[in-house]
Amino acid sequence: MPTIIVVNQKGGAGKSTISVHLARWLQRQKKAPLVVDADGQRTSSIWLESLEYEIPFQVLQDPNELLEQLPKFAETYEWVVVDGPATLSETTRALLLWADLALIPCQPSGVDLASASDTVRLVRQAKAIRGGLPKAAIFLNKAIKGTRLKDEAFAVLQQVQDVNFLETIIHQRQVVADSFGQGATVFDMSGTAAGTARRELERLFKQAVEILNG
Ligand SMILES: Nc1ncnc2c1ncn2[C@@H]1O[C@H](COP(=O)(O)OP(=O)(O)O)[C@@H](O)[C@H]1O
Ligand SMILES: [Mg+2]
Repeated sequence: MPTIIVVNQKGGAGKSTISVHLARWLQRQKKAPLVVDADGQRTSSIWLESLEYEIPFQVLQDPNELLEQLPKFAETYEWVVVDGPATLSETTRALLLWADLALIPCQPSGVDLASASDTVRLVRQAKAIRGGLPKAAIFLNKAIKGTRLKDEAFAVLQQVQDVNFLETIIHQRQVVADSFGQGATVFDMSGTAAGTARRELERLFKQAVEILNG
């Protein structure tokens, strides 16, 4: 079924965090996800191994293997979430040739906005080849409330052509940063902070699925 690639060559943008949380969110709705870890750092597969429950994953970075295996995964699993690599490589191009949705997390800083535009360029190239696919959505991650950077980044991302801007902002939250070390996601953690983070992510994921289905 649908394949979502979480993509941005900038390390630290939140690809692995978003991939693991998206997979958990889908699983909690009984939509069987598979995570494909396409990043050499293996953050998401290490994270998934540490969870108390099982979310299936595959570690796969070779572009040829990805193009051969992804169609099979899409037949077997209801959802495929790909944690993209930290480079704009052949692997990224291969993923964009197959994915239904490119989900692009972006930190609110000038450097990150510039690197997101490199990612968007590849998305545009894939869209031209594939007649409009993959659909694409960009959003702010690790935003800090009340900062000018956040407002400026919001304005910049709204202007990006050919990519949907998701208005839900994911804020920088300690509970999200802690979740990897706790072998959990905020969907499994208790307390008010986890609840707030959870609601924010839920809203984001619903918007992303709407873009995918729209
Ligand atoms: N919304 C957030 N709030 C706080 N920390 C975050 C958030 N998103 C990501 N992080 C942290 O930022 C760092 C980079 O995130 P990660 O998901 O590994 O990015 P990437 O996979 O793009 O390199 C990690 O330490 C992660 O815990
Ligand atoms: Mg990562």
